[in-house]
Amino acid sequence: MNKVNTIIVSLFLLSLCVTTTWAQDAGDYPDMSGKTILITGSTDGLGREVATRLGRLGAHMLIHGRNAQRGAEVVAEIKNNGGNAEFYQADFGSLDNVRKMAEAINRDHQRLDVLVNNAGLGAGFAGGERRESEDGYEMLFQVNYLAHYLLTELLLPTLKDRAPSRIINITSRSQMALNFDDLNQDNEHSGRSAYRLSKIAQVMHTFYYAELLEGTGVTFNTLHPASRMGTTMVLQTPGPVRSAVDEGANVVMYVATSPDLQGRSGIYFEQYDEGRAHDQTYDEAARERLDKMTREILGLPGRENQ
Ligand SMILES: NC(=O)c1ccc[n+]([C@@H]2O[C@H](COP(=O)([O-])OP(=O)(O)OC[C@H]3O[C@@H](n4cnc5c(N)ncnc54)[C@H](OP(=O)(O)O)[C@@H]3O)[C@@H](O)[C@H]2O)c1
Repeated sequence: MNKVNTIIVSLFLLSLCVTTTWAQDAGDYPDMSGKTILITGSTDGLGREVATRLGRLGAHMLIHGRNAQRGAEVVAEIKNNGGNAEFYQADFGSLDNVRKMAEAINRDHQRLDVLVNNAGLGAGFAGGERRESEDGYEMLFQVNYLAHYLLTELLLPTLKDRAPSRIINITSRSQMALNFDDLNQDNEHSGRSAYRLSKIAQVMHTFYYAELLEGTGVTFNTLHPASRMGTTMVLQTPGPVRSAVDEGANVVMYVATSPDLQGRSGIYFEQYDEGRAHDQTYDEAARERLDKMTREILGLPGRENQ
């Protein structure tokens, strides 16, 4: 083959590759009209991208974040595209804020079809220094994990009422084993470990709850969207950007909307594939222990009292 032919064949193969990727990514997402969807942390990054896409598909979007100005911008963007959205402001560094937000959502909405627990702080938060929440817990553990556990618990009746419904925890493949004697990281802390601990806790939350929710029509899955997308939290840490936000958003769209996943629960996705999470997440005693300690921290009734 001469040089020109080689170039033509290469370009053809490249175009096939691009078309295939596009077909998978763009997908034939279902019409989401009539569905109500809450995405925590949808004022920025991944959450914002997914919220605007779901708004375009007709879902009534509940936007959440700390910053009212950014919240109003996302709501306006969705409305300008013909969709419907409203903003709920809550700082997850305050459990009281989480309770008030759940109360407001339960009051304002009779249905919730999809809950995406996405809000988060990254390893670079406060330059990696240990900070505590208003409630006295390590900040990443609270914002990324505890706050979402509480929110999920408080919204569960609404999710169950209108089942089939979906809960999705946005985790990361970056996970490390919890030390139950130092869950609050009083003795050992780094920004990186705080992030990884909060992310394994989210996976354990998912696996534990998926079993409890069997037969209710509520599915609970967790996913790693993509590695090092160029978002605010990633830009706070050294190292290159490796993925586009679009790439992670495609994965969230798939898990949130795909009819193929109807009724499928307790899955850890690494992008589109079922993955293997950290070994500790498969230890049933560890999951149970985390659940028990979490409920005590949050002042929720123990399982034996339910
Ligand atoms: N980026 C990646 O490469 C990557 C990889 C794996 C997993 N993830 C996960 O993807 C999710 C989204 O991350 P991202 O990269 O899109 O981050 P991001 O751009 O930094 O956005 C974080 C979102 O969380 C909200 N948030 C932060 N702290 C909060 C608090 N105390 N209370 C309430 N909301 C708070 C932010 O709201 P404000 O507007 O109020 O700041 C913002 O909407 C996270 O769970 C992250 O762990 C990301």
